[in-house]
Amino acid sequence: MKRNILITGGAGFIGSHVVRLFVNKYPDYHIVNLDKLTYAGNLANLKDIEDKPNYTFVRADIADLDEMRRIIARYNIDGIIHLAAESHVDRSIKDPFTFARTNVMGTLALLQAAKEYWEALPEKYEGKRFYHISTDEVYGALELTAPEGIESPFTTTASSAEHHHAYGEEFFLETTKYNPHSPYSASKASSDHFVRAYHDTYGMPTIVTNCSNNYGPYQFPEKLIPLFINNIRHRKPLPVYGKGENVRDWLFVEDHARAIDLIFHEGKNAETYNIGGFNEWKNIDIIKVIIKTVDRLLGNPEGHSIDLITYVTDRAGHDLRYAIDSRKLQRELGWEPSLQFEEGIERTVRWYLDNQEWMDNITSGEYEKYYDDMYSNR
Ligand code: NAD
Ligand code: TYD
Repeated sequence: MKRNILITGGAGFIGSHVVRLFVNKYPDYHIVNLDKLTYAGNLANLKDIEDKPNYTFVRADIADLDEMRRIIARYNIDGIIHLAAESHVDRSIKDPFTFARTNVMGTLALLQAAKEYWEALPEKYEGKRFYHISTDEVYGALELTAPEGIESPFTTTASSAEHHHAYGEEFFLETTKYNPHSPYSASKASSDHFVRAYHDTYGMPTIVTNCSNNYGPYQFPEKLIPLFINNIRHRKPLPVYGKGENVRDWLFVEDHARAIDLIFHEGKNAETYNIGGFNEWKNIDIIKVIIKTVDRLLGNPEGHSIDLITYVTDRAGHDLRYAIDSRKLQRELGWEPSLQFEEGIERTVRWYLDNQEWMDNITSGEYEKYYDDMYSNR
């Protein structure tokens, strides 16, 4: 079937994996990647598919309503997968307004433009879909009731069989009440509410998914895993916030992209699905795994980089524990993570070490200027 799909934020970390998957897997679809190319957007993430005939890149700001109207009409868009966002908690603490503008107003502009376009068509919302990608951070923080970890209740699947820890009895469910703490999660929560409001008020076919922390290739090196890999390589300090006791549930980014593909095609309208890795780690433990893996792959003696660990002032409002129960997705659509964490982290570390040029390019600050020059006359 021919479809015209708009993917926003496709030059970012997760978006680039989703764009790549869709462009390669669905040659009959026209994939339009819409991205503002902020500091986090990087077209080098998509070098391998940029010349494909079913792929178009458009530089635009989702908060520009007229632009959204124009683009959705021009490409006759029938499906939207919305990932564009400001995504880093630490930046949101310093500059909450940018987060409200892009995540809230931008999502609203996209919803409104899609609504106007689809409602004016003879078939209206028939065959249309607005899929909003959100985060588990909207649910707030869970207690860390088992500081040493307990056996995870989610060990029934092949992929989670080896996974051992949970750090509490509570997990985020699709029904968990929203309780965001950071400006980032507050802006994502707000955007989620707007998406659901467009379903409830106008009948727009929407879906929301809330996913746990992603890791893998092409992640901007302000986030824990790529930042630490890069710092170890350059023998720079590894800033551990607080005591390093905070717990996150990590999912390999390609598994998230696979879930998005499945849910976009087979998910039920108006539903929410939680996506998680059944894979909780304390920051300090994951940091030790990263150090060990980088040292091994660089040929350093074991323990070589451990002294780079530097405890620093905790992040303001730092959520203690995130843990997703994604059994609804498993039960209803048959999705589960495909990769063991050990394998995922090995692939990730290897990728960053093998793609030093990608990293140097980003960290040099040159590339933002390059895109500004390249697209300045749009
Ligand atoms: P990212 O920061 O790597 O990429 C975001 C992309 O959005 C960039 O390419 C950026 O240029 C673009 N963008 C930002 N503002 C824009 C605007 N106003 N108009 C158009 N494009 C704009 O983020 P990511 O980690 O890939 O996250 C993608 C989505 O997934 C976000 O909505 C995020 O909230 C969500 N999410 C992320 C994670 C995670 O662990 N990274 C987990 C769950 C959910
Ligand atoms: P991050 O990758 O920013 O993701 P999120 O805040 O969305 O979960 O951070 C992951 C965890 O690592 C989080 O608990 C904060 C912590 N952290 C550090 O300890 N040091 C760092 O330099 C960074 C970036 C994060």
